[in-house]
Amino acid sequence: GRQTTFTVAIDGPAAAGKGTISKRIAERFDLAHLDTGLLYRAVGALSLAGQDPIEAARTLVPSALDREDLRTPQVAKEASQVAAMPEVRGHLLAFQRDFARQEGGAVLDGRDIGTVICPDANVKLFVTANAEVRAKRRHAELTGKGLKIDYERVLSDVIARDQLDEGRQDAPMFKAEDAILIDTSEMDIETAVAKAVEIVAAHLD
Ligand code: DC
Repeated sequence: GRQTTFTVAIDGPAAAGKGTISKRIAERFDLAHLDTGLLYRAVGALSLAGQDPIEAARTLVPSALDREDLRTPQVAKEASQVAAMPEVRGHLLAFQRDFARQEGGAVLDGRDIGTVICPDANVKLFVTANAEVRAKRRHAELTGKGLKIDYERVLSDVIARDQLDEGRQDAPMFKAEDAILIDTSEMDIETAVAKAVEIVAAHLD
C-alpha cells in the first residue's frame, strides 16, 4: 500500500516541461500538486506593485496564487530576483513543507524541492532541456497567449534567469544527487510524461 505521505519532488529550469509533467503525475497518482514557482511569482507581482518583498512573503495568502497576471516575463524576472532573498525563501518554507506532508501525498515542482524543501522525497526528478529548446517552447506559449515578444528576447531572459537561479547563495537550483534526470531537449511532452509516470510508478511499491 501507499505510505500516507508520498512526496514527488520535481525540479528544473523554466520551460523544460516540469509544469506539465507535475500536473500529469498529480492526476495519474491522485496526489495534490503545488507549483512552488507561483509562490515566488506572487511575491514578485506584489513587489512590482510596490510592496516590500519580505513583507509580501511573510503575509502571503494562498489566494494570491490564483492571480491571472503571474505568467508574464516581467513577473518571472522579478520572481527570480525576490527568490534570491533568504528572508523571502524563509517565509515561504513552512507553507511548502506543510503542503508536502499532507495525507495522500503531493507533487511539488520548483528549483529547490529535492535539495531543500523535501530532501527526503520518495521520488526526485530533475527535468531539463537546452536553453534554445526551452526558449522556443516559452516563445510559442507567450505568442500563443497574444503577447508580442521576440524569440531572441525570450532566449536571453531564459539564460539570465537560469544564471540567477543557479548562482544565488541560498537554495540555488541544482540536481539533487539522488534525483533522476529527464532531459527533454529531444523528447516530446508525451514521451517525457510517460517516462516520469514510469519512474514514479516504480517507486510506489
Ligand atoms: O517555476 P517558475 O518559472 O514559475 O519560477 C519563477 C521563479 O521563482 C524562478 O525563476 C525562481 C523562483 N523559484 C525558486 O527560487 N524556487 C522554487 N522552488 C520555485 C521557483
